[in-house]
Amino acid sequence: MRPRVQPKDPSPETQAKMQERAQRLTKRQYVRFAFYKVDPMWRRLPAEEQAAHKQELLDVIESFNRRMLLRPYSLIGTRADAELLLWQIAESPLPFRELASAIACTRMGSYLNMAHSYLSQTKRSIYEIRTAGAADEDEEERLVIDPTEAKYLFVYPFIKTREWYQLSQYARQGMMDEHIDVGRKYPSVRLNTTYSFGIDDYEFIVAFETDEPSDFLDLVQELRETSVSMYTLQDTPLFTCINMRLDEALDALGGPAIAKVLEPGAQDEIWMEVCPLDELGPGETKTVFLEGKMVGLFNVNGELFAINNRCTHARGPLTEGEVSAEACSVVCPWHYGKFDLRTGAAIDGVVNKPVDTYQVEVRDGLIYVGTTITYS
Ligand code: FES
Repeated sequence: MRPRVQPKDPSPETQAKMQERAQRLTKRQYVRFAFYKVDPMWRRLPAEEQAAHKQELLDVIESFNRRMLLRPYSLIGTRADAELLLWQIAESPLPFRELASAIACTRMGSYLNMAHSYLSQTKRSIYEIRTAGAADEDEEERLVIDPTEAKYLFVYPFIKTREWYQLSQYARQGMMDEHIDVGRKYPSVRLNTTYSFGIDDYEFIVAFETDEPSDFLDLVQELRETSVSMYTLQDTPLFTCINMRLDEALDALGGPAIAKVLEPGAQDEIWMEVCPLDELGPGETKTVFLEGKMVGLFNVNGELFAINNRCTHARGPLTEGEVSAEACSVVCPWHYGKFDLRTGAAIDGVVNKPVDTYQVEVRDGLIYVGTTITYS
């Protein structure tokens, strides 16, 4: 075992800064990891029934795309007790219940067993995440889940020993520093930490995104050697999940294929109805989920604009920023990076990457937001 790291005593300035950030960053997201397994009886149904069941389930799940950020993953071939994961992120837990009920009401729903279910929230860490040379925005990013297109997701629930919580904050911070330093050695692995104290059986649900499973394996093995590892009570079951489109993930369950056959490079236009035009007046903003991204809609003097709602600096919520009608721009509320609402260009402050823009149309008094996706 490595020697314990000496605890650090945060300076008064650091403590004041942490408190200020704690007040500013209060909005949390709810997160659900719903793992399903198909009853083997379903695989004995006639092929046409299986196809109809999958199509119905696909339509029901996709109808929730507007209300939550929903990512499907397949576990066929990686795990015995679960075959499909629906990773759900929303501003409230209510859409999770509605989606679960809607799935249960489908014909395929009666053949779907809930293998595992985890409920959690994003939350600002009580530890100072920053290490020498690292950006202090990392901590703030943790308040917002913004899944990448990484091919693999590794998910597990986590409980620490009660002895851990009896240690002083400074002692824990010292050990966390060592843990964080190991994590930074594996930049290809992106961590999403969520908290489930009091709302589910565990303390944390962690989800690691990467294209390189070997890097994740090496990271986990190296973390076993850190001091903080001595205080782990439970970190299983561990799920290896493969990112794919929902129609492909349903086809992986069995039965005739319903997934669209798409050549690499093929493009599709996706449009989503948002709301009646009179529900988004001049000066108002709204968010909507489209193709796994949170899109911010802005009405600037009657003209509508749509951009990715996550600031490219540290995922700040742009619809909560200050809009300038004259400059047609928005200033991120977290560190004041400024974006052009027409082009998404980063035009001032700490930001240097543009945000994606989306198409907006009004049809018969209803606002639609759209995007073109290219299949790989
Ligand atoms: S999150 Fe830092 S400027 Fe937006």
